[in-house]
Amino acid sequence: MENRSSTVPALYPERIALVEKHGARLTPLAPIGAQVEGNDLTSKQAPPPEVLQALEQEMANRGFLVFRNDKQLEVDDFLRASCWWGGKQLHSTHGVHPATPDGNVHIFRLSNDRQHGIPGVGPQWHNDGSFNPDTFSHSGYHIVRPAEKGGGTYFAHQGAAFDALPGEKQAYWRRLSSVNSASGMIHPLVHEHPLSGRLCIWLHLGMTGAVIEKLPDRDGFRLLNAQELKQLCHDYNDILDAGLTEGYAGLYEYRENDCVFIDNLAVAHRASPEAHLSTEQQGLRILHRSTVRGVENLAPDFGLPQQVNILGPSPFGEGVWQGGGIGFRWEDGIPMQN
Ligand SMILES: [Fe+2]
Repeated sequence: MENRSSTVPALYPERIALVEKHGARLTPLAPIGAQVEGNDLTSKQAPPPEVLQALEQEMANRGFLVFRNDKQLEVDDFLRASCWWGGKQLHSTHGVHPATPDGNVHIFRLSNDRQHGIPGVGPQWHNDGSFNPDTFSHSGYHIVRPAEKGGGTYFAHQGAAFDALPGEKQAYWRRLSSVNSASGMIHPLVHEHPLSGRLCIWLHLGMTGAVIEKLPDRDGFRLLNAQELKQLCHDYNDILDAGLTEGYAGLYEYRENDCVFIDNLAVAHRASPEAHLSTEQQGLRILHRSTVRGVENLAPDFGLPQQVNILGPSPFGEGVWQGGGIGFRWEDGIPMQN
């Protein structure tokens, strides 16, 4: 386990050297993430285990890795590399768009043209797979066709975001757990990252049906009411957005053949508004997503169950308890599609 730090840590020189020894180059991206060059994802050969371990640790520390590729990647190249991380196998729960190559069930195909892929996905801060007990350990994003005028993804470091919260809010958020609006899965709002050891915040801003507070002064729980939940969602949105000026969040614009792998427990993400603009405005954008099975459940504290029936009556008394669809709408008029 690494040392806790209030900033996004620099790449470890030993890991840079190890990657270089095996013929590739690892360099930091600003303000978060890192880039790998010279590792040919079309070759069937995976890097040796110690290199993969080093890269996975840096993904946990800095949030994501971009693999730069000179050659065009096939679906299998992308999926093979996705399985280098976390639970080491694909866990695919999404719909399959008709334009998906060979109807591959492991590809979630996104586009700003509905003929080419599913449009409008993920406009608010979230982590992938919040309807699963273990969520996903990692997600992969392969840009099949970057739009000429851009349309990237925002990433925010959830450990640095926790550190940026005032102390009393840290203590309050550590008592909270979110309930997924689709599955009733419960996840802690603050968890300790399994690889970095850092406390990280974690909430889905387009799929949360309730938030449970462990009472501070005695046994028992309560639900946040509409005003409190609205405030929490705004505060969560604000602290991740603050990373854009405070150096723990950034926009990544895809370049031809890029593959981005994210540690889904370390960074939140959202599509940039430009990613969802029309093909006339931006050019055609096509992105393939893969999702990797979690290593362990993202389990709530305080003896809460992993899952509740969000479509039944609340076992926690009065408050917001909203199953189905996007769950609780925390601001009117914003897109909240998953
Ligand atoms: Fe996503």
